[in-house]
Formats: sequence, C-alpha cells, structure tokens
Amino acid sequence: MRDYYEQSAEREAGRLSRPADGAVEWELHARAFEECLPPAPARILDNGGGPGTWTLWLAHRGYRVTLTDLSPALLDVARTRIAQAPRQYAVNVEAVTEADARDLSAFPDASFDAQLCLGPFYHLTSDSDRLQAVREAHRVLRPGGLLIATVMPPYMRLVSTVLEHGSAAFTTGAVARILDEGRHDDPRPGRFTGGYLTRPDDVTALFEDHGFRVRRLLASQGILAWAQPEVAALAQRDPDAYRRLLDVAYRTAGDPSIHGMSGHLLVVAERLTIHAE
Ligand SMILES: C[S@@+](CC[C@H](N)C(=O)[O-])C[C@H]1O[C@@H](n2cnc3c(N)ncnc32)[C@H](O)[C@@H]1O
Repeated sequence: MRDYYEQSAEREAGRLSRPADGAVEWELHARAFEECLPPAPARILDNGGGPGTWTLWLAHRGYRVTLTDLSPALLDVARTRIAQAPRQYAVNVEAVTEADARDLSAFPDASFDAQLCLGPFYHLTSDSDRLQAVREAHRVLRPGGLLIATVMPPYMRLVSTVLEHGSAAFTTGAVARILDEGRHDDPRPGRFTGGYLTRPDDVTALFEDHGFRVRRLLASQGILAWAQPEVAALAQRDPDAYRRLLDVAYRTAGDPSIHGMSGHLLVVAERLTIHAE
C-alpha cells in the first residue's frame, strides 16, 4: 500500500480535481465539511492527508492545520504545494509530519478540535489496527471534537475488479476475498492495493463502541458514484444542470439505500467524554 502511494504521489495529488474521478467526492465532502466543522480558527488534524489537498482547503478557510501521512513522497508533494500557496494561508499549516494513524504519540491528548481521516480506515486491514486508529483519534480530539473519516464499502470495488480483470477476478480468488474477508489486493505496481472494505452496517459499531457518537453517514459520491464520466460530461455541457444534480446528490447522500453501492462513505462522529475502550 505504501509503495502504491509512493509511486502515485503526483496522480493522487490531482485526483480530487479530475472530473471523472474525484470531482464529485470533492464537491460533496466540501459541503459536508462546511456544515459540520467547528468555525475557524479551530485546530484540525488531517490524518492520512496525503498530498495536502484538504489541508490547503482548510488553511484557506483560516483553520490551523496539521497534516500527517505514512507516505514521505506524498508529504513532499504536500510541502511543495503549501510552499506555493499564498503566504497568508500557508502560515495556517502548523506542521507536516510523517505519522501512522495507529500511533499519534507526537500529539498530546485533546489537542485537536476536529480530525479528518480520509484514507487510513480503508487501508488498516486488521480489526486491532482499526481499533487502535479509533483509540488514537479519540485521544487526540478534545471532548466534543469531530472525527470525519472515510471507509470503503465492498460492492463497487468488487464490480470494478471484475470489469477490469474479467474471469481472472474469480479464478484468482479476488472476488471471494472481497466478499469473505473485505480485502482488496492488487500486486501489480502502481495499482490501488492493501484495501480494507467495510460494510455500511458495520460502520456505526466501529466508532460508537469506542467513545464516539456517529452524527452523519454520507455516500461520498452520493447517487452519482456509478455515473462519474457522464456527470463530468454534463458539467461541461450544462453547468446549471450539473450544479442542481450535485445539490440533489448532497441532499440524498445520507439515504441508507444508496450506501452499499457507494465508492466511499463519509462518517461524521463526535468524540464523547467517556474514554475509548
Ligand atoms: C486515497 S489517499 C487520500 C488522501 C487524502 N486524505 C485525500 O482525501 O485526498 C489515502 C491516504 O491514506 C494514507 N494512509 C493509509 N494508511 C495510513 C495510516 N495507517 N496512517 C496514515 N496514513 C495512512 C495514504 O498514505 C494516503 O495518503
């Protein structure tokens, strides 16, 4: 997994602005963050923040941001982007540091008002690793602070694996591993790998059993997950219809009937005063 991000750092940096790839996720996540985050200059940890795309978005809005990630190559991309940003925003980025979501010991207890964790939970493949990341998120947040995390449900990944590999997806056991173990691995260089897939029904317990209350669960690409190239074409052809469709996608993103077929789910959870078990 780390090799994948090391090799694809530049590509990852552009992902959220590519119309047929991350643009819908970007639009819907931005709306959710605007609604849910405490006002600036709250202190925010962008944990697994990779190339710093959301770090810069937060810094532009006056938040004091710390960016952590496992990948040195992605952190280098982030440092370059921050250095190129206007100084009045760049100064809001307080630190850019290599850290694993399972070990945030560089940060004291209750040191952040909110934490983005958009990545680690779909790469931590054991129950104990995910639990450790939840415990660390709880520890570094102040009581009442927000954890905003993504998880990846299995079915979209399953279908895209078969569309890409055909029968080999079945004969190699890739489909069975997704269905039975929630694991997605692709040994080819430069391919998304080391993925852990979480069923929507299991999301609430992951956080609520360990000191959080889930406030919202949203489909990151809403009802548009399966039509992103067509939605990108609509954005060019009819920008007004595109904006209105995004409005509908955001309004319906909390509908549980679409969650299982979403690419990612965005979890907004409040840190309770009780300790994580
Ligand atoms: C798909 S990228 C998302 C980057 C960024 N959060 C965004 O939304 O643009 C997933 C990120 O999670 C990071 N990551 C995965 N496991 C991690 C862990 N255990 N601790 C810290 N970062 C991790 C990867 O290095 C990568 O930067």
